[in-house]
Amino acid sequence: MNLPVQHRPILLALALAALCSAALFVRQAEGRPAPSPLPDEALSQAMHQMEQALEALGKGVKADNRDAQLAELAKFQSAVMTAKEKTPESAEKVEEKKRAAFVADYRKTLVEALQFSCAAETAILDGKFKEADTLVRNKLGGLKSTGHGKFKQDRGGK
Ligand code: HEM
Repeated sequence: MNLPVQHRPILLALALAALCSAALFVRQAEGRPAPSPLPDEALSQAMHQMEQALEALGKGVKADNRDAQLAELAKFQSAVMTAKEKTPESAEKVEEKKRAAFVADYRKTLVEALQFSCAAETAILDGKFKEADTLVRNKLGGLKSTGHGKFKQDRGGK
């Protein structure tokens, strides 16, 4: 390309400016923390499934709805199995050194929820419906509050 001599300095300046901004962009991208991932859809769905099952179970177990309530408990348990494999979004805000312990605590809390749900299942199978109701209302309800207090990120209104 044959550029008039008087235009060459302009072209050189433009090329230099482009190089500088590219270098700046690369530096910024390296220094910047990774963009936060989107909230885990599978975790959110599992929590909604737990909510629906617990709502149904909250109506109480009797001889005539025993089978339906056992099916709700199974839905609850399978949702807990999914949720406990996930990492809550709130873990991102935890100091790196403490993050593994935080995620383990999250998982153990859900394991506890699973254990209470199994105890409720045993109670239903033994015909101890009142005992099952108490486990659902007090133990699972209590774990929900503790779990959310510790691990659920406040996303403004949720
Ligand atoms: C036991 C009964 C529980 C029920 C019924 C329940 C229900 C819910 C519901 C409805 C949501 C909102 C989901 C959304 O709209 O995205 C939610 C979110 C959440 N729950 Fe639970 N929960 C329970 C227990 C727990 C426990 C024990 C923990 C922790 C160990 C926990 C951790 C979370 C977290 C981290 C979120 C936020 C999930 C996200 O990122 O979308 N939940 N839960």
